[in-house]
Amino acid sequence: MATSAMISTLMAMLCLSITHGLNEIPIPNDLALKLNQNQEIISQASTDYGHIIQESPIAVLQPSSISDIANLINYSNSLTNPFTISARGKAHSVLGQAMARNGIVVNMTNLNGFRKRSGIVVSDGKSPLGCYVDVGGEQLWIDVVHATLKRGLTPLSLTDYLYLTVGGTLSNAGIGGQSFRFGPLVSNVLELDVVTGVGELVTCSSSINSDIFYAVLGGLVKKL
Ligand SMILES: Cc1cc2nc3c(=O)[nH]c(=O)nc-3n(C[C@H](O)[C@H](O)[C@H](O)COP(=O)(O)OP(=O)(O)OC[C@H]3O[C@@H](n4cnc5c(N)ncnc54)[C@H](O)[C@@H]3O)c2cc1C
Ligand SMILES: *[C@@H]1O[C@H](CO)[C@@H](O)[C@H](O)[C@H]1NC(C)=O
Ligand SMILES: *[C@@H]1O[C@H](CO)[C@@H](O)[C@H](O)[C@H]1NC(C)=O
Repeated sequence: MATSAMISTLMAMLCLSITHGLNEIPIPNDLALKLNQNQEIISQASTDYGHIIQESPIAVLQPSSISDIANLINYSNSLTNPFTISARGKAHSVLGQAMARNGIVVNMTNLNGFRKRSGIVVSDGKSPLGCYVDVGGEQLWIDVVHATLKRGLTPLSLTDYLYLTVGGTLSNAGIGGQSFRFGPLVSNVLELDVVTGVGELVTCSSSINSDIFYAVLGGLVKKL
């Protein structure tokens, strides 16, 4: 009861600040411009593939850079009652995992337009890391496969269904026909760039910031 009262107060505050600019700490202009409150977008962000859970966010962030996401997190953390923030890939979750009740959903696929050519970079195989592909979390596996196939290569492990985002599947495990041999997707990741809960961009791997690396891979917490 106490929690839900707190959250609805926050919602009222945020709505005010988005429409009237009256808030305990005003939303920075550059951030406000990227928050979408269009009814159709809100209702899209309130549902997922499962159609079991429905939770409405206050707004959807349309990021055009990583720092837009860090900005949102930092803004939330500056409030007395921070709001919920959730990343959304293709929303092929079935139990509301990409939703943010009374909070803000970050539409990760918007980063695709921003990155354009740099969203998927296939290595030349000459690096000490060997052959790898450097991919934005917002990218779809189908696009990753198309890019690597141009070199006659594919990732060692894939999901069977490829119209899912890299970030969304790495939050789970990612299994498919090659998993029996190469393990799930999460066992084939060399390095991650992660925006943490305090808005810092951290590069991590099994040897650098490994606690973050292993917390993020397969780190999805099912909401109850
Ligand atoms: C038709 C269908 C086929 C499927 N096939 C397979 C399959 O073959 N193999 C398999 O393993 N799974 C499969 N799945 C399950 C699928 O992997 C998961 O549902 C996965 O979460 C979907 O990815 P998404 O991009 O839709 O993620 P979303 O549902 O959008 O997000 C999932 C979770 O990841 C988080 N997230 C999303 N993007 C990011 C990001 N960039 N950074 C950080 N966190 C992020 C979200 O907040 C959420 O918690 C399938 C699901 C469906 C509906
Ligand atoms: C997310 O952005 C994509 C374009 O990148 C758009 O097609 C989709 O409707 C948006 N969804 C939400 C919930 O904002
Ligand atoms: C967000 O806050 C973190 C931690 O204080 C800081 O490192 C980061 O630069 C901030 N990001 C932005 C975009 O303001």
